[in-house]
Amino acid sequence: MSEKITISLIKADVGGWPGHSSVHPDLIEKAKECLEKAKNEGLLIDYHVTGVGDDLQLIMSHRRGVDSEEVHKLAWDTFVEATKIAKELGLYGAGQDLLKDAFSGNVRGMGPGIAEMEITPRKSEPIIAFMMDKTEPGAFNLPIYRMFADPFNTAGLVIDPNMHDGFIFEVWDIMEHKKVFMSTPEEMYDLLALIGAKSRYVIKRVYPKESNPKLKADEPVAVISTEKLFQIAGEYIGKDDPVALVRAQSGCPALGEVLEPFAFPHLVSGWMRGSHNGPIMPVGIKQAHCTRFDGPPRVAALGFQLANGKLVGPVDLFDDPAFDETRKTAQIIADYMRRHGPFEPHRLPLEDMEYTTLPKVLKKLQDRFESL
Ligand code: F6R
Ligand code: MG
Ligand code: MG
Repeated sequence: MSEKITISLIKADVGGWPGHSSVHPDLIEKAKECLEKAKNEGLLIDYHVTGVGDDLQLIMSHRRGVDSEEVHKLAWDTFVEATKIAKELGLYGAGQDLLKDAFSGNVRGMGPGIAEMEITPRKSEPIIAFMMDKTEPGAFNLPIYRMFADPFNTAGLVIDPNMHDGFIFEVWDIMEHKKVFMSTPEEMYDLLALIGAKSRYVIKRVYPKESNPKLKADEPVAVISTEKLFQIAGEYIGKDDPVALVRAQSGCPALGEVLEPFAFPHLVSGWMRGSHNGPIMPVGIKQAHCTRFDGPPRVAALGFQLANGKLVGPVDLFDDPAFDETRKTAQIIADYMRRHGPFEPHRLPLEDMEYTTLPKVLKKLQDRFESL
């Protein structure tokens, strides 16, 4: 059997409690039941189930590789089972992220978000699962860039010989469905020219360089979910609420370097009706409920050590007073942004909004518009 281990983080919103704020504990219980069964049957090595905002999160370890039909079917069936409960409980938007009626080999393109990596575990393998609610995949651009390419964030880029040569970024153009690999630090400015446009260019994976003695160059050190629900469904279904897996230590950024970018509550798009800019607030799982103006957007981080494929953890990494000031700053920014009401740049520009009445308003006014 392969010594490689796959970590699959697959998530979906299958019903909110109440509104779009959180996941009902019965959904989490049902998901645990499904994954426990799969573990007993040998499909999974280990799993952890949690909720962040209104998204049900399945964190799984196994030996079936990425895009495994069996693992994806397990995730899909688990969401279907949870949806049944969501319907019984009258939860809001029950089954909203299950966009297709039947499973067909892979959950990609069917609604759920997926971050998966197959790796050869190092002697000790710390893995962090990041889960965001009320925002889009591009929200990870800034923190992932800072972890793997910004020497003011990651001291190791300067002073750790293992990672001094930098990392390779795989960037996707999610409008044109193209990808490009870019090498840092050499192409830092070109990379930033792309990923600063975060609604279009998103970091999909980060790889170590050949020269990194601690890691295999063809196995990622970070992976981010990039499913675009609106492109899947052809109409607005909800922001993507992305997730990511990041490896830490020993040739990678240290755990503290991986968490450090989140000390800055940067502005992301999403929040109320997927149509507003607001600060992303790092929170512990207990606080991962989107309340104020359906937000503000949140990010939770669970840390694990991998041991023979077992997920030893989690540690709720943002449940820590070290992030209190960040949360306070996020509140101040939330107040400041909210005071703009329906005005940009709080409200997103027209092309990025997910709800709009503009066509109807324009139609109503069409006879009253006069030439200038
Ligand atoms: C944002 C989100 C919520 C909803 C809002 C309106 O991603 O899920 O902010 O957009 O609560 O929801 P509906 O239209 O379902 O009443
Ligand atoms: Mg929802
Ligand atoms: Mg959500």
